[in-house]
Amino acid sequence: MKLSVPKERRRDERRVAASPDTVKKLVGLGFEVLVETGAGTESGFADDAYTEAGAAIAADEAETLAGGDVVLKVQRPLIEAEHGGDEVALMKPGATVIGALAALQHPPHAEAYAKAGLTAFSLELLPRITRAQSMDILSSQSNIAGYKAVLDGAGAFGRALPMMMTAAGTIPPARVLVLGAGVAGLQAIATAKRLGAIVTGYDVRPAVKEQVESLGAKFLAVDESATTDAETAGGYAREMGASYKEREAEVLTEALARNDIAICTALIPGRPAPLLISADMVKGMRAGSVIVDLAVEQGGNCELSEAGEVAEKHGVTILGHVNVPSRLAENASSMYARNLLNFLTPLVDRENGTLAIDWEDEIVSACLIAREGEIVHPSLVPPNADKDVA
Ligand code: NAI
Repeated sequence: MKLSVPKERRRDERRVAASPDTVKKLVGLGFEVLVETGAGTESGFADDAYTEAGAAIAADEAETLAGGDVVLKVQRPLIEAEHGGDEVALMKPGATVIGALAALQHPPHAEAYAKAGLTAFSLELLPRITRAQSMDILSSQSNIAGYKAVLDGAGAFGRALPMMMTAAGTIPPARVLVLGAGVAGLQAIATAKRLGAIVTGYDVRPAVKEQVESLGAKFLAVDESATTDAETAGGYAREMGASYKEREAEVLTEALARNDIAICTALIPGRPAPLLISADMVKGMRAGSVIVDLAVEQGGNCELSEAGEVAEKHGVTILGHVNVPSRLAENASSMYARNLLNFLTPLVDRENGTLAIDWEDEIVSACLIAREGEIVHPSLVPPNADKDVA
């Protein structure tokens, strides 16, 4: 069984889908691992580290992908229609490609996998069940993003975060407000606390209050009686009704005016991110405040944030960095690579040196996009496949 690790080709992507550590384990599983030269450079993994771990180095992407029975990717491969090189065409028919393919958002890619005869797994669709925790790319990458967002915010803020009592005077602590307290938000709260800020967390899911408080932060309550059905059975947030949103806007306007740094992490799966900070609310913030909008790629929690831009609006610095996990590429890659290894391991029949996939397994079926020339994910019906939301 050959396994290929190409260099990622999309803009702003510094991560890689295998680390020297996971390569060692993949070799132990019986794979012959081929890594494209330079694939790990931006994550701090040199070619030599992969060779020491048991991989061979390929000179270019075509050579990397040519024989691969399994291809590990971070982002979805380029397809012909993108006119930037067709990575799918370089893959061997029948190969299994695994990555954060975002296939539901990119139906033409799913079509391309099926047409090329690939078996494609889109790992952001993994169920949030205990057995899948070690494979959960959303959690590992959100965790990194939440941490890095606070550091980015602190870097753009013109003052210190902790209180400092010195002979030269006392510096007051900064106040950090974290909007959305899922995986990224809770890590942001913990990080801002460690840096000595006074931290407040906000979320629509009532279960979160206790988690926020257990990290030593305050919980911002809007209307607790209205949030009893804010959480879906899968543990995600729902979009809230109009009257709740009105009350939320009042509470957030006041809170934003009191805080120095706002970290935005609120998301609703399958929908645009909820708009929590209007332009007027930004105007109401103190000059020198900072907003970090981690939701910017889903439309943003702040009306004035722009994807890929750092802007100053009404005296407030608004950070709209995209692909924040990639800004901490070594840690993000290590964790992502582990997630992929943990997903792949149960699919391997070591005795026979083949893949032996249980197609009925709920983890497998939840993220299987294409198989044997067909798109198989129930959410992707071919008549909708012409809409690319790239
Ligand atoms: P997410 O990335 O979809 O959303 C981030 C946060 O934004 C969520 O906490 C959500 O409630 C919040 N949010 C949405 N709309 C909001 C609004 N209008 N105002 C304020 N906050 C808003 O969520 P994430 O981080 O992926 O976590 C989702 C759930 O999955 C959580 O319950 C988490 O504990 C659970 N989970 C379970 C795992 C498992 O294996 N059992 C692993 C990871 C997460």
